[in-house]
Amino acid sequence: MKVALGIGCDRGTPLATLARAVDEALAVAGLQRGQVTGVGSITLKADEPALLALAAQAGWPLHFYPATQLAEVVVPHPSETVRRHTGTPSVSEAAALLAAGTTEASALCVEKHRLRGGDGRNATVSVARVMPRTAIPPCVANPDPARRFTASEREAVQALMQVRRDMRHFTAGAQVAEDVRARLQSALLAAPSVGLMQPLRVLRITDPVLRDRLAAAVDQERMRTAQALGPRAAEFLALRVEGVRECAELWALVLAPDDGTLFGRRTLASEMAWCSAGAAVQNLWLAARAEHLGLGWVSLFEPGDLHTLLALPAGAVPLGLLCIGPVDRFYETPLLIQQQWRQARPVPALFTENNWAPSWNTDTSATTEQPLHS
Ligand SMILES: Cc1cc2nc3c(=O)[nH]c(=O)nc-3n(C[C@H](O)[C@H](O)[C@H](O)COP(=O)(O)O)c2cc1C
Repeated sequence: MKVALGIGCDRGTPLATLARAVDEALAVAGLQRGQVTGVGSITLKADEPALLALAAQAGWPLHFYPATQLAEVVVPHPSETVRRHTGTPSVSEAAALLAAGTTEASALCVEKHRLRGGDGRNATVSVARVMPRTAIPPCVANPDPARRFTASEREAVQALMQVRRDMRHFTAGAQVAEDVRARLQSALLAAPSVGLMQPLRVLRITDPVLRDRLAAAVDQERMRTAQALGPRAAEFLALRVEGVRECAELWALVLAPDDGTLFGRRTLASEMAWCSAGAAVQNLWLAARAEHLGLGWVSLFEPGDLHTLLALPAGAVPLGLLCIGPVDRFYETPLLIQQQWRQARPVPALFTENNWAPSWNTDTSATTEQPLHS
């Protein structure tokens, strides 16, 4: 079994205390140092000498998590005192789980082992099993296809749709645990697609240099869009339109080269593939919000730039950069409304019966923008 450690300690805790606390915690679960794959702690401790020295000696990768991310992990022993000092009710338990790639508290094999050194300084160690990579369920062997949802579940789904937002501010330095990522992937897979075509492909960007180049491509398109907006250029430039550099996860969305699926798309082939991609992203958007993660769809780029940067094959179409990750707070309303760029239409402006509504011909919602086609 492989495990990850979560460590919290007082400022200036000696290396000997920390090392003893770790060895004792491992012994409690009958584990050896060689089974440790990494150590997690709070960003506050990123310069804690004994922690850095211990990890370096043992060859353990260190992961530091911001208090906001740790605070989201449900742990067996939250502490009000720890929260007062660090901004999160748990450091060691939450960090051990995140370093193990999970948020399931049942993965903790040592919940909290505390050692007070001779000098009165404390170290706390938690140990979590590293979860095997979660298999993504195939499409979709549902054990209860006729499941009825309760009133409170219905309310939860409605609430989820109402509080979902396109997010462009993210908690810098945060991560998304592997089990959460697997659930997001499952959400994507569960989406409808025309003729079960599943045209969307996702490239998870983990190379920081590539991320930087993608961000630069977005910056360039942002400037071109501002120029095209004419009188509203300055106003547009004041808007926040992406969080590519800070988000925990950056996923490039690519429409695969057309596989020729005919079912449902003989007449509107491209459009139905695009709609299928959109349906998949909406699943992901909702699933991310249910995990308390923000998601922002960024479409400000020249497709050719992304084609080159991502080395895509002929016929593949980049559709977006998805920024996903913990956020400090969710916007209450769409940011474009908050920033007075545009108003949302009310329900009657979108629904009618049987015939096209004449009022739709005089809809002036978009007239505050330079029209795309004039
Ligand atoms: C296909 C698509 C592309 C989008 N591209 C961007 C973008 O490049 N930058 C941005 O800030 N928002 C982008 N958005 C987000 C929309 O602006 C946002 O959904 C809309 O303002 C409503 O806000 P809400 O999602 O918070 O309800 C995009 C949304 C979609 C569906």
